[in-house]
Amino acid sequence: MKLENDETKNRVVDASFVAGAVEAGGLPPPALLEVAFAGRSNVGKSSLLNSLMDRRSLARTSRTPGCTRQLNIFEVRCADGLMMRFVDLPGYGWARRSKDERNQWQSMIEGYLRTRASLRAIVLLVDVRRGVEEEEQQLLEFLRLPRQVSEPKPLEIVLAATKVDKLSASARKPALDVVRKGVGLPVIGFSSVTREGRDALWGRLRHAVL
Ligand code: GTP
Ligand code: MG
Repeated sequence: MKLENDETKNRVVDASFVAGAVEAGGLPPPALLEVAFAGRSNVGKSSLLNSLMDRRSLARTSRTPGCTRQLNIFEVRCADGLMMRFVDLPGYGWARRSKDERNQWQSMIEGYLRTRASLRAIVLLVDVRRGVEEEEQQLLEFLRLPRQVSEPKPLEIVLAATKVDKLSASARKPALDVVRKGVGLPVIGFSSVTREGRDALWGRLRHAVL
């Protein structure tokens, strides 16, 4: 059967929580290709994941920063049969964390990003109203280092600017331009409220796991 359009194809027919772990070594062995979602605490990683997965609250979200504290893996199957895993990463930049907690965060995330052979893409989320700051630049720098795995192609970096619904139509384009220039990569404007950007993002993820 030929699926008519992206919206039909990208509909998620199955989504489930697979496992969570506080370090990369505690995760189940890779069974499918993975995409990880990284960004500042409260930027909307878990909300974006729920939109992508067509589920209201499979990934836990909260108004309070620091909601996601471990690596959480989800598995999805789309209407056209495509399957992959999504990894919800704990957010960085949460000032109230202790230095120990920040170090733990760093080794958890960096360990995962450096050693997970099944990882194909990382989606970096930036709040459209905040743009790119020091922490994003540090993460991008880290991502430019060689990984400790042999891989068929380099890790794809996908940039998404979240919460675009909070800006007026006229303020959006200039704000997205600032984010794009700050990173030097194309940017997808995204809203988990209106689902704007969902098909564009799915398109990039499909390409990454090809
Ligand atoms: P941590 O788990 O703490 O790292 O946060 P997170 O990045 O997973 O953020 P989360 O998805 O929990 O969202 C944080 C808050 O922002 C919640 O109150 C969400 O409802 C809100 N939010 C997330 N995405 C959007 C969006 O696109 N638009 C609007 N208006 N609010 C959003
Ligand atoms: Mg979260």
